[in-house]
Amino acid sequence: MFSLKDKTAVITGASGGIGLSTTKRFIEAGAKVFIGDIKDSTELANNLGCTWVKTDVSNEESVKNLMEKASEDHGKIDILVNNAGIVLPNKNIANADVNEYKRALDINLMGVVYGMKYGQRHMNTGGAIVNNSSLAGIIGFAGYGAYCTSKAAVVEITRVAAIELADQNIRVNCICPATVNTSMAYAKGNELELKLAEATLPQRRLCEPEEIAALIHFLSSDDCKFLSGQAINVDGGYTAGIAMPIIENMLGDAE
Ligand SMILES: NC(=O)c1ccc[n+]([C@@H]2O[C@H](COP(=O)([O-])OP(=O)(O)OC[C@H]3O[C@@H](n4cnc5c(N)ncnc54)[C@H](O)[C@@H]3O)[C@@H](O)[C@H]2O)c1
Repeated sequence: MFSLKDKTAVITGASGGIGLSTTKRFIEAGAKVFIGDIKDSTELANNLGCTWVKTDVSNEESVKNLMEKASEDHGKIDILVNNAGIVLPNKNIANADVNEYKRALDINLMGVVYGMKYGQRHMNTGGAIVNNSSLAGIIGFAGYGAYCTSKAAVVEITRVAAIELADQNIRVNCICPATVNTSMAYAKGNELELKLAEATLPQRRLCEPEEIAALIHFLSSDDCKFLSGQAINVDGGYTAGIAMPIIENMLGDAE
């Protein structure tokens, strides 16, 4: 069940956080993994038994090269996880900086677009693509216009790709996590979001990267053959409604 034996997987942004947890899980499930990360991951890849290809997902040629390298061994890619992403410091629209918006779109959106453009060329029928969006792609967070916009676009390009690639029997889904316990959650300028997450997530804890990797694993496996074009919230119940203890806390604070 959920075996990835004999599968070739490409995971971007896998030198840390969610990508690294996913890489470890995929290797355990039998996959041959190619990491596409901007950060030198030679030692990490050697230790894990996978391959690092230096990749900047915002650069089209760089992503093309990653897909070509990954497909060389078995002549195909079975699974593509477009995970690499960045968050920008908290800044309201009143102070919007065009360069920050462009950077968010270049990495968070175009990284996914390039991944799908070049990845699908090497995928056999029955392949799976998982894009990493965010809960910020589903609901708005004040101060995160650049990030939210780029992640909302990932949700929509996922739907478009799912329809376009259905003929090739390639499934495309995206995941929308709330705050995950990785270095991104503790990024400078992100302090407010971290406080908000800890105060408002119904389970009163951050999501662990392994919990996201488990969903990516399921979505990538052949056991998940009829699920495509979906954006799946992984938020501990955040979007289901407001938990009573949180309301009590808020009312208590207001008194
Ligand atoms: N941590 C969270 O709270 C959270 C919540 C929702 C969604 N996400 C999304 O999950 C994904 C992974 O985030 P994470 O929390 O593991 O963060 P992380 O910062 O721990 O890891 C991000 C990885 O992406 C790599 N990277 C950054 N820019 C790159 C580029 N241009 N080309 C290639 N690689 C690049 C980094 O080197 C790093 O290995 C991101 O897309 C992020 O937006 C994270």
